[in-house]
Amino acid sequence: MPIQLKSGPEIDAMRVAGRLASEVLDFIGPHIRPGVTTGELDRLCHDFMVNVQGTIPAPLNYCPPGYKPYPKSICTSINHQVCHGVPGDRVLKSSDIVNIDITVIKDGFHGDTSRMFLVGEASIAAKRLCEITHEAMWAGIRQVAPGKRLGDIGAAIQKLAESAGYSVVREFCGHGIGRGFHEEPQVLHYGKAGTGLELKTGMTFTIEPMINAGRPEIRELADGWTIVTKDHSLSAQWEHTVLVTEAGFEVLTISEGSPDRERRRPS
Ligand code: MF3
Ligand code: CO
Ligand code: CO
Repeated sequence: MPIQLKSGPEIDAMRVAGRLASEVLDFIGPHIRPGVTTGELDRLCHDFMVNVQGTIPAPLNYCPPGYKPYPKSICTSINHQVCHGVPGDRVLKSSDIVNIDITVIKDGFHGDTSRMFLVGEASIAAKRLCEITHEAMWAGIRQVAPGKRLGDIGAAIQKLAESAGYSVVREFCGHGIGRGFHEEPQVLHYGKAGTGLELKTGMTFTIEPMINAGRPEIRELADGWTIVTKDHSLSAQWEHTVLVTEAGFEVLTISEGSPDRERRRPS
Protein backbone atom coordinates (compact mmCIF):
# COMPACT_ATOMS: atom_id res chain seq x y z
CA MET A 1 0.00 0.00 0.00
CA PRO A 2 1.35 3.47 -0.87
CA ILE A 3 2.04 5.97 1.90
CA GLN A 4 -1.19 7.49 3.21
CA LEU A 5 -1.01 11.21 3.95
CA LYS A 6 -3.25 12.02 6.91
CA SER A 7 -5.46 15.08 7.10
CA GLY A 8 -8.13 16.67 9.34
CA PRO A 9 -10.10 14.01 11.21
CA GLU A 10 -7.41 11.34 10.73
CA ILE A 11 -4.83 13.57 12.37
CA ASP A 12 -7.21 14.24 15.25
CA ALA A 13 -7.68 10.49 15.72
CA MET A 14 -3.90 9.91 15.59
CA ARG A 15 -3.43 12.61 18.26
CA VAL A 16 -5.89 10.83 20.53
CA ALA A 17 -4.32 7.39 19.98
CA GLY A 18 -0.84 8.85 20.54
CA ARG A 19 -1.78 10.56 23.80
CA LEU A 20 -3.49 7.41 25.06
CA ALA A 21 -0.40 5.27 24.32
CA SER A 22 1.76 7.74 26.25
CA GLU A 23 -0.73 7.74 29.13
CA VAL A 24 -0.26 3.98 29.52
CA LEU A 25 3.44 4.67 30.14
CA ASP A 26 2.53 7.39 32.67
CA PHE A 27 0.28 4.89 34.41
CA ILE A 28 2.78 2.01 34.55
CA GLY A 29 5.83 4.07 35.62
CA PRO A 30 5.20 3.93 39.40
CA HIS A 31 4.73 0.14 39.25
CA ILE A 32 8.20 -0.46 37.75
CA ARG A 33 10.08 -1.32 40.94
CA PRO A 34 12.33 -4.12 42.24
CA GLY A 35 10.25 -7.26 42.90
CA VAL A 36 7.57 -6.77 40.25
CA THR A 37 7.35 -9.29 37.39
CA THR A 38 7.04 -8.24 33.76
CA GLY A 39 3.89 -10.38 33.61
CA GLU A 40 2.34 -8.21 36.33
CA LEU A 41 3.24 -5.05 34.37
CA ASP A 42 1.57 -6.58 31.31
CA ARG A 43 -1.58 -7.42 33.28
CA LEU A 44 -1.78 -3.91 34.77
CA CYS A 45 -1.32 -2.25 31.35
CA HIS A 46 -3.80 -4.60 29.69
CA ASP A 47 -6.49 -3.81 32.28
CA PHE A 48 -5.81 -0.08 32.03
CA MET A 49 -6.02 -0.09 28.23
CA VAL A 50 -9.10 -2.25 27.94
CA ASN A 51 -11.10 -1.22 31.01
CA VAL A 52 -10.06 2.40 31.70
CA GLN A 53 -9.14 3.77 28.27
CA GLY A 54 -11.30 1.64 26.02
CA THR A 55 -8.29 1.02 23.76
CA ILE A 56 -7.15 -2.19 22.09
CA PRO A 57 -3.61 -3.40 22.90
CA ALA A 58 -2.23 -3.81 19.36
CA PRO A 59 0.53 -6.33 20.24
CA LEU A 60 -1.88 -8.99 21.59
CA ASN A 61 -2.10 -11.74 18.93
CA TYR A 62 -0.23 -9.53 16.45
CA CYS A 63 1.08 -11.91 13.80
CA PRO A 64 3.26 -10.54 11.00
CA PRO A 65 4.26 -13.02 8.26
CA GLY A 66 6.79 -15.57 9.55
CA TYR A 67 5.96 -14.97 13.23
CA LYS A 68 3.70 -16.73 15.69
CA PRO A 69 1.01 -14.58 17.33
CA TYR A 70 2.49 -12.26 19.99
CA PRO A 71 1.08 -13.59 23.30
CA LYS A 72 0.96 -10.41 25.45
CA SER A 73 -0.32 -6.82 25.40
CA ILE A 74 2.98 -4.94 25.87
CA CYS A 75 6.69 -5.50 25.24
CA THR A 76 9.15 -5.48 28.16
CA SER A 77 12.82 -5.57 27.12
CA ILE A 78 15.34 -5.83 29.96
CA ASN A 79 19.11 -5.04 29.92
CA HIS A 80 20.63 -6.87 26.91
CA GLN A 81 17.17 -7.46 25.41
CA VAL A 82 16.87 -5.13 22.42
CA CYS A 83 13.13 -5.21 21.71
CA HIS A 84 9.97 -7.36 21.68
CA GLY A 85 10.70 -8.84 25.13
CA VAL A 86 7.72 -11.02 26.09
CA PRO A 87 6.37 -10.39 29.61
CA GLY A 88 6.36 -13.38 31.97
CA ASP A 89 7.68 -14.56 35.35
CA ARG A 90 10.91 -12.57 35.26
CA VAL A 91 11.29 -10.47 38.43
CA LEU A 92 12.78 -7.00 38.01
CA LYS A 93 15.70 -6.20 40.31
CA SER A 94 17.53 -3.02 41.27
CA SER A 95 19.98 -1.90 38.54
CA ASP A 96 17.91 -3.40 35.69
CA ILE A 97 16.94 -1.12 32.81
CA VAL A 98 13.69 -1.91 31.03
CA ASN A 99 12.01 -0.64 27.89
CA ILE A 100 8.23 -0.65 27.98
CA ASP A 101 6.71 -0.46 24.48
CA ILE A 102 3.02 0.36 24.19
CA THR A 103 0.84 0.36 21.09
CA VAL A 104 -2.86 1.12 21.41
CA ILE A 105 -5.65 1.23 18.85
CA LYS A 106 -8.39 3.82 19.36
CA ASP A 107 -11.16 4.40 16.80
CA GLY A 108 -9.15 2.42 14.26
CA PHE A 109 -5.89 4.39 14.62
CA HIS A 110 -2.60 3.34 16.24
CA GLY A 111 -0.34 5.18 18.71
CA ASP A 112 3.08 3.58 19.35
CA THR A 113 5.61 4.75 21.97
CA SER A 114 8.24 3.41 24.34
CA ARG A 115 10.44 4.72 27.13
CA MET A 116 13.33 3.38 29.20
CA PHE A 117 12.84 2.96 32.94
CA LEU A 118 15.60 2.52 35.54
CA VAL A 119 14.71 -0.05 38.20
CA GLY A 120 15.95 0.97 41.67
CA GLU A 121 19.55 2.24 41.48
CA ALA A 122 21.00 2.13 37.96
CA SER A 123 24.70 2.16 37.11
CA ILE A 124 26.29 5.25 35.54
CA ALA A 125 26.87 3.22 32.36
CA ALA A 126 23.23 2.18 32.11
CA LYS A 127 22.00 5.74 32.75
CA ARG A 128 24.33 7.12 30.09
CA LEU A 129 23.12 4.59 27.51
CA CYS A 130 19.47 5.46 28.23
CA GLU A 131 20.15 9.21 28.02
CA ILE A 132 22.18 9.04 24.83
CA THR A 133 19.55 6.81 23.19
CA HIS A 134 16.88 9.36 24.15
CA GLU A 135 18.97 12.14 22.60
CA ALA A 136 19.53 9.99 19.51
CA MET A 137 15.76 9.63 19.05
CA TRP A 138 15.45 13.41 19.41
CA ALA A 139 18.25 14.07 16.93
CA GLY A 140 16.16 12.06 14.48
CA ILE A 141 12.90 13.84 15.35
CA ARG A 142 14.51 17.28 14.91
CA GLN A 143 15.27 16.39 11.27
CA VAL A 144 11.59 15.91 10.47
CA ALA A 145 10.17 18.57 8.12
CA PRO A 146 8.61 18.69 4.63
CA GLY A 147 11.36 18.46 2.03
CA LYS A 148 13.78 16.63 4.32
CA ARG A 149 14.57 12.96 3.58
CA LEU A 150 14.46 9.74 5.55
CA GLY A 151 18.26 9.52 5.30
CA ASP A 152 18.53 12.79 7.25
CA ILE A 153 16.77 11.12 10.19
CA GLY A 154 18.92 7.97 10.08
CA ALA A 155 22.17 9.88 9.67
CA ALA A 156 21.46 12.16 12.65
CA ILE A 157 20.67 9.19 14.91
CA GLN A 158 23.68 7.18 13.78
CA LYS A 159 26.06 10.10 14.24
CA LEU A 160 24.90 10.82 17.77
CA ALA A 161 25.00 7.16 18.85
CA GLU A 162 28.33 6.32 17.25
CA SER A 163 30.05 9.49 18.55
CA ALA A 164 29.15 8.25 22.02
CA GLY A 165 30.86 4.90 21.28
CA TYR A 166 27.62 2.96 20.80
CA SER A 167 26.17 1.06 17.82
CA VAL A 168 22.83 1.18 15.98
CA VAL A 169 20.77 -2.00 15.54
CA ARG A 170 20.13 -2.50 11.80
CA GLU A 171 17.48 -5.24 11.67
CA PHE A 172 14.58 -3.22 13.10
CA CYS A 173 13.40 0.23 12.13
CA GLY A 174 10.72 2.84 12.60
CA HIS A 175 7.61 2.57 10.42
CA GLY A 176 4.66 4.37 8.96
CA ILE A 177 1.63 4.09 11.23
CA GLY A 178 -2.06 4.91 11.06
CA ARG A 179 -4.91 2.47 10.49
CA GLY A 180 -2.11 -0.09 10.17
CA PHE A 181 0.39 -0.93 12.96
CA HIS A 182 3.35 -1.17 10.58
CA GLU A 183 2.85 0.77 7.35
CA GLU A 184 5.28 2.09 4.78
CA PRO A 185 7.79 3.68 4.85
CA GLN A 186 10.56 1.96 6.80
CA VAL A 187 12.41 4.53 8.89
CA LEU A 188 16.03 3.39 9.26
CA HIS A 189 18.03 4.60 12.25
CA TYR A 190 21.25 4.85 10.23
CA GLY A 191 22.05 6.14 6.75
CA LYS A 192 23.25 9.01 4.66
CA ALA A 193 21.91 12.58 4.87
CA GLY A 194 20.14 13.85 1.74
CA THR A 195 19.14 10.36 0.57
CA GLY A 196 15.91 8.39 0.67
CA LEU A 197 12.23 9.25 0.56
CA GLU A 198 11.24 12.91 0.77
CA LEU A 199 9.02 13.79 3.74
CA LYS A 200 5.61 15.35 3.06
CA THR A 201 3.14 17.12 5.33
CA GLY A 202 0.63 14.62 6.70
CA MET A 203 2.96 11.61 6.93
CA THR A 204 2.88 9.77 10.25
CA PHE A 205 5.66 7.39 11.28
CA THR A 206 7.61 6.23 14.30
CA ILE A 207 11.22 6.92 15.20
CA GLU A 208 12.47 4.23 17.58
CA PRO A 209 16.24 3.72 17.62
CA MET A 210 17.67 0.63 19.33
CA ILE A 211 21.19 1.46 20.51
CA ASN A 212 23.68 -1.10 21.85
CA ALA A 213 26.53 -0.32 24.26
CA GLY A 214 28.62 -2.91 22.41
CA ARG A 215 28.40 -4.43 18.94
CA PRO A 216 25.30 -3.98 16.72
CA GLU A 217 24.57 -7.68 16.07
CA ILE A 218 21.46 -9.27 17.51
CA ARG A 219 19.84 -12.67 17.78
CA GLU A 220 16.32 -13.94 18.42
CA LEU A 221 15.46 -16.10 21.46
CA ALA A 222 13.66 -19.44 21.18
CA ASP A 223 10.33 -17.77 22.10
CA GLY A 224 10.32 -16.46 18.51
CA TRP A 225 10.03 -12.81 19.62
CA THR A 226 12.58 -11.56 22.14
CA ILE A 227 15.61 -9.95 20.48
CA VAL A 228 18.91 -9.75 22.40
CA THR A 229 22.40 -8.41 21.70
CA LYS A 230 24.77 -11.15 20.48
CA ASP A 231 27.57 -9.89 22.72
CA HIS A 232 25.23 -9.50 25.73
CA SER A 233 25.94 -5.77 25.92
CA LEU A 234 23.21 -3.47 27.28
CA SER A 235 20.68 -2.10 24.80
CA ALA A 236 18.24 0.82 25.03
CA GLN A 237 15.34 2.13 22.94
CA TRP A 238 12.94 5.09 22.92
CA GLU A 239 10.03 5.54 20.53
CA HIS A 240 7.65 8.29 19.46
CA THR A 241 4.96 8.53 16.78
CA VAL A 242 5.53 11.70 14.76
CA LEU A 243 3.45 13.76 12.28
CA VAL A 244 5.11 15.83 9.54
CA THR A 245 3.70 19.40 9.68
CA GLU A 246 4.29 22.64 7.79
CA ALA A 247 6.37 23.81 10.77
CA GLY A 248 8.38 20.57 10.80
CA PHE A 249 7.02 17.98 13.21
CA GLU A 250 4.47 17.29 15.89
CA VAL A 251 5.17 14.45 18.32
CA LEU A 252 1.83 12.68 18.79
CA THR A 253 2.77 10.37 21.69
CA ILE A 254 2.87 13.03 24.40
CA SER A 255 0.92 13.13 27.67
CA GLU A 256 1.02 14.95 31.03
CA GLY A 257 3.66 12.58 32.39
CA SER A 258 5.82 12.47 29.28
CA PRO A 259 9.45 13.55 29.76
CA ASP A 260 9.18 15.18 26.31
CA ARG A 261 6.16 17.46 26.92
CA GLU A 262 8.08 20.68 26.24
CA ARG A 263 9.63 19.44 23.00
CA ARG A 264 6.48 18.36 21.19
CA ARG A 265 6.82 20.92 18.38
CA PRO A 266 9.91 22.72 16.98
CA SER A 267 10.98 25.62 19.20
N1 MF3 B 1 5.70 -1.74 19.29
C1 MF3 B 1 6.68 -2.37 18.45
C2 MF3 B 1 7.12 -1.33 17.46
O1 MF3 B 1 7.52 -0.31 17.89
C3 MF3 B 1 6.17 -3.59 17.78
C4 MF3 B 1 5.85 -4.67 18.70
S1 MF3 B 1 5.22 -5.99 17.83
C5 MF3 B 1 4.87 -7.08 19.06
O2 MF3 B 1 7.03 -1.42 16.27
F1 MF3 B 1 4.14 -7.98 18.52
F2 MF3 B 1 6.02 -7.53 19.55
F3 MF3 B 1 4.23 -6.45 20.02
CO1 CO C 1 6.95 1.09 16.47
CO1 CO D 1 6.56 0.30 19.70
